Amino acid sequence: MKRSLSIEFSRVTEAAALAAFAWLGRGNKNAADEAAVKAMRIILNQMEIQGEVVIGEGEIDQAPMLYIGEKVGLWQADNEIVSVAVDPIDGTRMTAMGQANALSVLAAGGRETFLQVPDMYMEKLVVGQDVRGMIDLNLPLEQNLRRVASKKGKLLSQLTVAVLDKPRHSSVIAEMQQLGVRVMAIPDGDVAAAVQCCLPESQLDLLYGIGGAPEGVITAAAVRALGGDMQARLLPRNQVKGNTLENFAFAEKEISRCEALNVPINDVLKLDDLVRDDNLVFSATGITSGDLLNGIQRKGNLATTETLLIRGRSRTIRKIQSSHYLDRKDTDLHRLIEA
Ligand code: FBP
Repeated sequence: MKRSLSIEFSRVTEAAALAAFAWLGRGNKNAADEAAVKAMRIILNQMEIQGEVVIGEGEIDQAPMLYIGEKVGLWQADNEIVSVAVDPIDGTRMTAMGQANALSVLAAGGRETFLQVPDMYMEKLVVGQDVRGMIDLNLPLEQNLRRVASKKGKLLSQLTVAVLDKPRHSSVIAEMQQLGVRVMAIPDGDVAAAVQCCLPESQLDLLYGIGGAPEGVITAAAVRALGGDMQARLLPRNQVKGNTLENFAFAEKEISRCEALNVPINDVLKLDDLVRDDNLVFSATGITSGDLLNGIQRKGNLATTETLLIRGRSRTIRKIQSSHYLDRKDTDLHRLIEA
């Protein structure tokens, strides 16, 4: 992807984060998500790309916009062909409840860059560059922890692992704590925690756990751009949430969707399977403040955003602080931000 194009993607997550922020703490995660989706789409459609959403808000029949297969951009003949993987809000509940660590996030790359996955669960294991090649999801978690610790020259008690704080993880959390590992149990938002593991100054050694598969592919883009490592496995809903009739019905649909997309279920996917090329860009803008990014600050008509923009080919990591004067325009985007 052209260098000049990559910076443009920061405007897309900025707009989505600003629109989401209008719904901060109002208890309505669907309204926040809808606003972020609309804002993201407005800016994507202004870009000089022939873009297609490959990871989005769902299938065409479930999602009115940013659905998988939706064309975005100006689509002029000489525009670059770009695949876009979007998550307008990672942390919809956190946004609705005014909690920390919510982000707007996307990854963009060439036509075949991202693995297409259904909206289902994915087991994820992420580490930074210093321990690349040391993880293997086919091995028990304890063995992975020992391999990572030994490569880093640390004791298990000096390892810090982020895990989503969900009932499905209570036994792995207990297991790690018994081994002496420090566990950071996060309520939601595994993209931010995974990215943190791969940043040079990170306090986190590893992310482990089961979260969303679309978020997993976007995470893999950041991990690849940062030179880290990741393995993952798609899991049908009954294996994650229990063997109920409802979960079996979900799982059946997930399995046939995986067959249609030709992606294996329950097999280990390596970083190269998830994201096939490092000529990509990853952009994340903080909605609420967290360990990765500052959230939006708003005073009257002035809003400030902080965005992490990573270009895979050069491994350049930019933090972009922007001030937005919101009273200067009367556009669809500004109406969303003022909602
Ligand atoms: P949303 O904002 O889309 O709800 O995602 C938040 C999140 O915590 C992700 O970061 C994570 O991958 C996924 O949800 C976990 O799913 P679940 O909430 O079903 O456990």
